[in-house]
Amino acid sequence: MDRVVLSHAGDVARLAAHRIAEALRADPELVLGLATGRTMERIYAELVRMHRAEGLCFAGCRTFNLDEYVCLGPDDPGSYRHYMNRHLFDLVDIDVARTHVPDGLAPDMQAEGLRYEALIRQSGGIGLQLLGLGENGHIGFNEPMSPLSSRTRAVALTPETRRQNSGMFASDTSGNDASRVPSRAITMGIGTILEAREILLVVTGMIKAAPLADALDGPPGLLAPASALRHHPQCHLIADAEAASWLRKLPDQCL
Ligand code: GLP
Repeated sequence: MDRVVLSHAGDVARLAAHRIAEALRADPELVLGLATGRTMERIYAELVRMHRAEGLCFAGCRTFNLDEYVCLGPDDPGSYRHYMNRHLFDLVDIDVARTHVPDGLAPDMQAEGLRYEALIRQSGGIGLQLLGLGENGHIGFNEPMSPLSSRTRAVALTPETRRQNSGMFASDTSGNDASRVPSRAITMGIGTILEAREILLVVTGMIKAAPLADALDGPPGLLAPASALRHHPQCHLIADAEAASWLRKLPDQCL
């Protein structure tokens, strides 16, 4: 995995967005894997800016999101479908019928996982997968102990992850309340993620220094789901100086 470390989170987001734009320009029918979370918001804002200022076109591409909360529908502001519409899909020229997020309201999660995997396959597989890192080292919602061969499926979220994501469910009266975060999600598996032809792992902030060091330098294994990325032939880390501060190996590029 090559590593690029930049001083500020804003620069990280710009570089990640530029890599996505470059891939989209090279292949307007690119199949993009997308992620959610605070880290991604700046990347999407930059892509929207490029669409408006530079005519970056999304019309031909297809997208697959990593995950969705079980029991949340597209109208729920906490759902990842709502997040994607708000931060990207409603703001660019993408055809919403070509955007895919696992269905958190599907009556049969096992069937939904199979349907999602089949759709990815029929689309030719994911060309470029955008990926963040959870504070406990998860990728997508593959929590520690997720099998390397896992595919899209429903999973239970750890109390830590529900607490970490509670900011997205805050209300005026309750503040950040982990009990408002659904206890289950449907997520692409580690096996699904590893099949993407290229992966962009984007990590920012001091809170991610330990999980990033575990992922890249610690003992590889199920306790650090992101350590599975080490053997991917085209996985690129873009991190800010804070997130990279516990890494042992010097970055390939320090801009
Ligand atoms: C959620 C998503 C992950 C994402 C993580 C990090 O848990 N399921 O895909 O990597 O959030 O979020 P943040 O960028 O807010 O730290």
